[in-house]
Amino acid sequence: MKAVIPAAGLGTRFLPATKSMPKELLPVLNKPVIQYVVEEALEPEGVDEVVIINSKEKPQIEAYFSVDGGFESMLRERGKDSEADAVHQAGSLPVSFVYQNEAKGLGHAVLCARDAVPSDEPFFVLLGDYFVPDRKMCVNMAEVSRAHGGASVIAVAPVPADQVSRYGIVGGECVGCLPGCDASGEEEGAVWRVTGMVEKPAPEDAPSHLFIVGRYLLSPRVMEFLATQGPGAGGEIQLTDAMVRLLEKEEMYALVVDPSEGCDTGTPAAWAATNARVALADPASRAAFVEALGPRAAKSLA
Ligand code: G1P
Repeated sequence: MKAVIPAAGLGTRFLPATKSMPKELLPVLNKPVIQYVVEEALEPEGVDEVVIINSKEKPQIEAYFSVDGGFESMLRERGKDSEADAVHQAGSLPVSFVYQNEAKGLGHAVLCARDAVPSDEPFFVLLGDYFVPDRKMCVNMAEVSRAHGGASVIAVAPVPADQVSRYGIVGGECVGCLPGCDASGEEEGAVWRVTGMVEKPAPEDAPSHLFIVGRYLLSPRVMEFLATQGPGAGGEIQLTDAMVRLLEKEEMYALVVDPSEGCDTGTPAAWAATNARVALADPASRAAFVEALGPRAAKSLA
């Protein structure tokens, strides 16, 4: 089973840093953002490869995920074995690449992976501006899919009414919850049967307050609809619009998640906050991070 990560964007929010460095390689502590997403994508049982949709302008991502024996030997000669191990591990992850030559939207990006995804297998899509440290979100989505005959499942979460126009919003009805919890409605763990979806609706057109978080487990049939999908919101080919057409043919479910379980890296401020959060959660970095922050900065955060 494959997992697809769209990563062809220009990273304009991070300019000028991203003039010569892909935003996907910005580090959170000492690991690039995209490696957290790749490792999350490989967590559900059965996922054996991650397909990164890249642009030809960002060869550094492919270089990062390649084994560089010469560099590793040089590190080992200098006694840097744990660093060489870390470099080797990143280079050995099961990652392949396809290319998106034009920025035509998320739906178009996913369609670029059509030949890399078996036409008889569901696949995950993970948006790369966000990662979930405990890697459980996609695992839980796979469980919901299994419970519903292999149907598509998307992660959703409540959002304030005045923010619905920033996201894809789903409509539907709550039909149960993840095993081991008694969640209902918009509570974390509740499972909805999806009946509709709108990309970036005006507040009065939103079918609910549940937004699409950026984790999808999709029927391969969505590729058929993406192939003929015209532009939608923002003039872009939207994954949400193709999913609406898929919904006419197949059942689809949504799992309510707590988006704060994940770390946002989509803007410089969110990325900086994610670095702080991960540093504080990492026993090897916590004390040094607090010390480096200094008492004044630590106090201003409190
Ligand atoms: C994309 C999706 C949208 C989803 C959002 C989550 O939008 O099209 O449905 O809610 O990601 O971040 P974008 O952020 O690319 O505009």
